[in-house]
Amino acid sequence: MSLALNELEKLASKSATEAITFDRQGLKGMAISKYQRAIEILTKLCSLYPKASQNKVYLEYIGQYQKRIKELKGYAPYEAESWKNEQKYDGKVLREKPQVNWKDVIGLADAKQAIRDSIIYPFKRPDFFPLGWPRGILLFGPPGCGKTLLAAATATEIDAAFYCIDAASIMSKWLGESERNVAQLFETARLVSENGQPAIIFIDELDSLIGIRSEEVGGEVRMRNQFMKEMDGITDKNKKLHVYLVGATNKPWSLDGPFLRRFQKRIFIPIPDLKSRRDILKLYGKKLFNMGTNVDFPELAKRSHGYSASDLYDVVQAVHLKVVREYFESHTLSDTKATLRSIQMSDFLAVLEERKPSVSMNTLGLYEKWYERFKAL
Ligand SMILES: Nc1ncnc2c1ncn2[C@@H]1O[C@H](COP(=O)(O)OP(=O)(O)O)[C@@H](O)[C@H]1O
Ligand SMILES: [Mg+2]
Repeated sequence: MSLALNELEKLASKSATEAITFDRQGLKGMAISKYQRAIEILTKLCSLYPKASQNKVYLEYIGQYQKRIKELKGYAPYEAESWKNEQKYDGKVLREKPQVNWKDVIGLADAKQAIRDSIIYPFKRPDFFPLGWPRGILLFGPPGCGKTLLAAATATEIDAAFYCIDAASIMSKWLGESERNVAQLFETARLVSENGQPAIIFIDELDSLIGIRSEEVGGEVRMRNQFMKEMDGITDKNKKLHVYLVGATNKPWSLDGPFLRRFQKRIFIPIPDLKSRRDILKLYGKKLFNMGTNVDFPELAKRSHGYSASDLYDVVQAVHLKVVREYFESHTLSDTKATLRSIQMSDFLAVLEERKPSVSMNTLGLYEKWYERFKAL
């Protein structure tokens, strides 16, 4: 019993964390779908183990997520006119308005250049590209290093209509209607593009949509075929069309051949190097008040080799939480005048000690190997 409970709890917490990350990036549709997933799992937990003491906490979280979903929906997250059959989508694919800029993406110089070459320049000056440009762009690399962030920032950069799809969730939700939904998604993007605005269709966790699988249900095969057909459509038919399909995956090796071929451009999003680690720590550290003068960011960067960007974000957040916790341990709740003590180098060192990188060096090696074999353009 406790095993299933544990697994489900982990799943719920994963979805919630992802939701909060998307939320931070202004990817409301994605955030909503992940909050919904977290709610589903927590509800299931409560019904499976009605007597468990944690249920009160779960219900509390469910309430919070529901509230946040309501708020997000209230912000008019998408432009309704862009969907002909809007209600069919039931909030699953939204036209997002990302709130991140190019400069919020630290490091990744090569990846940014690759995006400029394959999306930004062709969009600005299609006349410079008589041979066309890649419409399928694959961002791959370890989790938490900026694939989603970069895709969102690219959309901001060229003021593109940004359609964000979470492959893992549409596989289950679109079943039955998947071909039509895929066709309509591309149709909408084409319409937008014909009206002069570029469109980026972003598919996160691409591998769960188009992986190599042995036992597939018919629906999945048809959906995949529809995707490939649509991708061929944006490549061949119309040179002027500015519709780009950007896919992201942590598991490039599980994409199959025919699908991979359609992603002519493959961009590796690696873990941050020394300088990027320093800049990421600084960027997120800057948002905290009261950083002590002894906090040595270059030194912290040296000590955080192997950490992903999102690990570094977590480190900064944990450091902050440590100081907040101390505050509440030594002050009464009614004390509203006292302030947080400043953050010290030793706080960072303590957190780094207990939080290890989330991606193993072994796994990192796999990406390089795959890239060697499959790099393109
Ligand atoms: N290159 C980066 N620069 C700054 N922050 C980053 C970077 N990459 C990731 N992050 C942080 O980690 C979070 C998760 O990153 P994300 O783009 O979702 O990773 P991925 O899609 O590669 O798994 C981001 O919201 C951001 O806070
Ligand atoms: Mg991501």
